[in-house]
Amino acid sequence: MEKKAKQQIKTLIDQINNHNYAYYVLDDPKLTDMEYDNLFRELESLEEKYPNLVSPMSPTQRVGHPVDSGFQGYNHDVPMLSLSNAIDSAEINEFYKRVLKWLNNIDIDFVAEPKIDGLGVSLIYRNGLLERALTRGDGFKGEDITHNVKTMPSVPLELRDLENTPPPFIEIRGEIFMSISDFKKLNDNRKKSNEKLFANARNAAAGSVRQLDPSITASRNLSIFCYEVGGSDKINFKNQIEMLAYLKSVGIPVNPLSKKIKNGNDMIAYHKTLEENRLHINYEIDGSVIKVNDYKLRDRLGLRARSPRWAVAAKFKAKQTESQILDIELQVGRTGVITPVAKIREVDLSGVMISSATLHNQDEIDRKDIRINDFILIERSGDVIPKISKVLKDKRPINAKQFSISDYNCPESGCKIERIKNQAAYRCLNINCKSRVLGMLEHFCSKNAMNIEGMGPQIVKQLFEGNLINHFDDIYKLKYNDLVSLERFKEKSATNLIKSINHSKVTTFPRFVFGLGISNVGQHISKVIDKHCNSSLKKLGELKVEEMEEIDGIGATVAIAIENYFKIDKNNQIINNCLKLGVEIESTHFDQSHMKMLNEKVVITGSFQSLSRGDLKQRLEKNGASVTTSVSSKTTALIVGNNPGSKLKKAQKLNIKIVHENELDKFLKEN
Ligand code: IVH
Repeated sequence: MEKKAKQQIKTLIDQINNHNYAYYVLDDPKLTDMEYDNLFRELESLEEKYPNLVSPMSPTQRVGHPVDSGFQGYNHDVPMLSLSNAIDSAEINEFYKRVLKWLNNIDIDFVAEPKIDGLGVSLIYRNGLLERALTRGDGFKGEDITHNVKTMPSVPLELRDLENTPPPFIEIRGEIFMSISDFKKLNDNRKKSNEKLFANARNAAAGSVRQLDPSITASRNLSIFCYEVGGSDKINFKNQIEMLAYLKSVGIPVNPLSKKIKNGNDMIAYHKTLEENRLHINYEIDGSVIKVNDYKLRDRLGLRARSPRWAVAAKFKAKQTESQILDIELQVGRTGVITPVAKIREVDLSGVMISSATLHNQDEIDRKDIRINDFILIERSGDVIPKISKVLKDKRPINAKQFSISDYNCPESGCKIERIKNQAAYRCLNINCKSRVLGMLEHFCSKNAMNIEGMGPQIVKQLFEGNLINHFDDIYKLKYNDLVSLERFKEKSATNLIKSINHSKVTTFPRFVFGLGISNVGQHISKVIDKHCNSSLKKLGELKVEEMEEIDGIGATVAIAIENYFKIDKNNQIINNCLKLGVEIESTHFDQSHMKMLNEKVVITGSFQSLSRGDLKQRLEKNGASVTTSVSSKTTALIVGNNPGSKLKKAQKLNIKIVHENELDKFLKEN
């Protein structure tokens, strides 16, 4: 009996999987919804009868238990980079020309694909089984969303049977999204039950993926298209077209609109046609992505800091709508820079209500001749703050008023503002200006810095005005009794805030350093320095400009800003107080076990036949070597290509090891 049930279960699972494949990948369903539901129910009842025959790969097992401890973070083995943008035909053509030039005008193919406006995801399959799904996160570290991705019937739990055994490992990348019709249905239902509406399909997809309870995700109808392989074992694809065909063959949905093309004109034509057809496509796209087809050529082109040289995202023109400027206000940021902001008559711009738009600076106001009371077109692309694309001068009302920042003082405390030399921006010169201090404190507490939940701008302002916090360290001196007596605070909210302040104390180097608000030190730079300083704040405070400039990714401006920051005693005091009050910087764990060249300090000179200098640098760094630009007594090796410069002479003088192109493999210890 059981043997028969086992066979029946297998047949049902195969039928369901075949249906999913026909439906989601081939877009050619063979069963009606009812036939499919019947198969599913039949499988459920058999599994209920024979619980020992339930396989974790059964489609009935897609919805598991809620996770209760939040999302676990994982580093991506290969960073998930972003793409550089091309905003018009001329920039698309520039990309084409650039690639041709880098590759010495050889004959090449490109692949054009829609750029889906969803959430980047990485799917890891081991021996053909879905092991883990991660969000893109910051590109280096993502969050584990396996429990939710498993609920998506379009994502196979097991790669389809190939004639060959599945690869031991493959990491597939794609975009999770919600179709426009599903988004509308979801919002209609939410409206009926008085729930908050999602602003757009992307937010709805993001909200659905970031659920602790997978049954909610399962009810949301998410879709996916995959477009890259981040890494794999035992399969080597020659090019994108071959890789996409492989993904399709193993049951992974790929976009049917991908197309092989040849040149700049093809790219522009593809992009224009896609933009024209945009309204007929049942998912949000915000442009096209154009990629070099051949993977060996991709390797030759290599990467920039955060995007590959072999691809570009050609963006569609932003959606626009009309409104009117009611007033212009000045906002002061934490660095003192003044940003003029237009308060506009509230309008709906692609599903989001907009009531203000940035004017950037006085030059922008003058160049576009923007006046208070003007009618304007505003636009927004992606998550970017709305901006004014055009003043409708034909409609200019008689009460239109010109605006000049220089007529005003700093809005919060009336301090003097001045134009920064050689720049368009004005700045408030008073470092104790209330707006600046508030901006700094808000930034320190914000999500990507110390992430103190419940310490938003309003609470920061309240605590500052109540004289409870002036500098970052004051936050860690706050006591329950300080809070509970304040307006808007109750016992519970005071306890919660103290809890989240305590919770934030155990933090990482990049979070803390980003939180300090040193000018030009963003999240990315904080991570770069973390690696160099081994998560030591002491080491950071001692760094000199020359040493920092040697770090890949750090330029003179950043180096000077950091050195200047630590020259100020007060800053050091505040940091030390934070540490005394319990802030603890956890050491970041960098997996360096595979790095065989950690002690090498290498300089490159000349050009190479077999690879570009960029690729060479990348290979060296991947192995742990640090690559610097000038030869010094600390240099351990000089890599010499054709036409070496003066560096060769200097290295010979200092008796430094010289490595020629034919010795590279040995030197890289990759064999
Ligand atoms: S390729 C190294 N292809 O756009 C680049 N990305 O701005 C790998 N995206 O993070 C990405 N559609 O989340 C690629 N057809 C497509 C895409 C696509 C949407 C997203 C992706 C990426 C972002 C880059």
